[in-house]
Amino acid sequence: MLTIKQIRKPIQEELDFFEQFFRNSMKSKVALLDRIMYYIVKHKGKQMRPMLVFFSALLNGEITERTHRAAALIELLHTASLVHDDVVDDANLRRGFFSVNALWKNKVAVLVGDYLLSKGLLLSVKHQDYDILQLVSEAVEAMSEGELLQMEKARKLDITETVYYDIIRRKTASLLTAACGAGFASTNQDENKLEIIKLFGEKIGIAFQIRDDLFDYGNEAVGKPVGIDIKEKKMTLPLIYALNQADESMRRKIVKTIKNHNEDKKKVKGIIDFVIKSGGIEYATQKMYDFQKEAIDLLAQFPDGEGKTGLLQLISFTTERKK
Ligand code: IPE
Ligand code: IPE
Ligand code: MG
Ligand code: MG
Repeated sequence: MLTIKQIRKPIQEELDFFEQFFRNSMKSKVALLDRIMYYIVKHKGKQMRPMLVFFSALLNGEITERTHRAAALIELLHTASLVHDDVVDDANLRRGFFSVNALWKNKVAVLVGDYLLSKGLLLSVKHQDYDILQLVSEAVEAMSEGELLQMEKARKLDITETVYYDIIRRKTASLLTAACGAGFASTNQDENKLEIIKLFGEKIGIAFQIRDDLFDYGNEAVGKPVGIDIKEKKMTLPLIYALNQADESMRRKIVKTIKNHNEDKKKVKGIIDFVIKSGGIEYATQKMYDFQKEAIDLLAQFPDGEGKTGLLQLISFTTERKK
């Protein structure tokens, strides 16, 4: 597998420009905000979504200023969603450092997330990129719905595999859908192809979140807390599968433990062991590869070139990544 650095190579100049552009679009005259923005920019992520924007743009055209605005908009919204998500999940670690809520408290993090969202919206409105704004707004709507649906299921503890896919399609895949769609639409008018590249984004997005949910069952340092999903009563694919395999009394016992002893580290460890023994990890891994395969097949409908090569490499990265 290629490293993210190697995958970035063909679009390195665009990404350097992106970083500058991204930083500039976050400036504020309010000292506290500016300090937090500086902190966020300093601890940047993998920038997978901007890469999806650029490679999708290159599928059938040349990168333009519109492409750059789309990349910045998407990364701003992604950053906003992470800042909010860490409040929701009560997580104190992000990208290997303290999360915004851990350093400045929840109140500040909520407002910082809103601020980032507003910066993204203003960037698009200012340049009248309404088609891109439409795509991205649909993603923001879906992300909120996904996180809330997840919360509802955490309360009722009655999630099914179908609902799990629905949740991750909304909370995570929607933004990757928008990244691919916005990138493509920034250089191309083909409506049919736009739908295909959006579907590609959805498939890779679902695989991406399954990979993320598998991290939570591991012991590796991924730059954010692991082993907290059960504590948050978040039932993800490995656990859903394990419960489906278990007999009724076992199932009841596990659900009861999640309900009443989710803060008890020993008991949570017991559930994790149960999931591993039931083959939940292998099952989720296989499903992840199934979605990956669907994504690869969709790309067959685009001409060979820099864009397609980059997207294919990003698909491999999605499932093989270590963080
Ligand atoms: C994390 O996304 C949130 C999920 C959807 C799982 P990334 O793993 O892309 O986050 P960064 O930007 O690289 O930190
Ligand atoms: C994905 O959910 C986060 C968003 C879509 C905002 P998670 O809660 O699983 O993501 P991480 O693990 O905190 O990055
Ligand atoms: Mg979350
Ligand atoms: Mg989280």
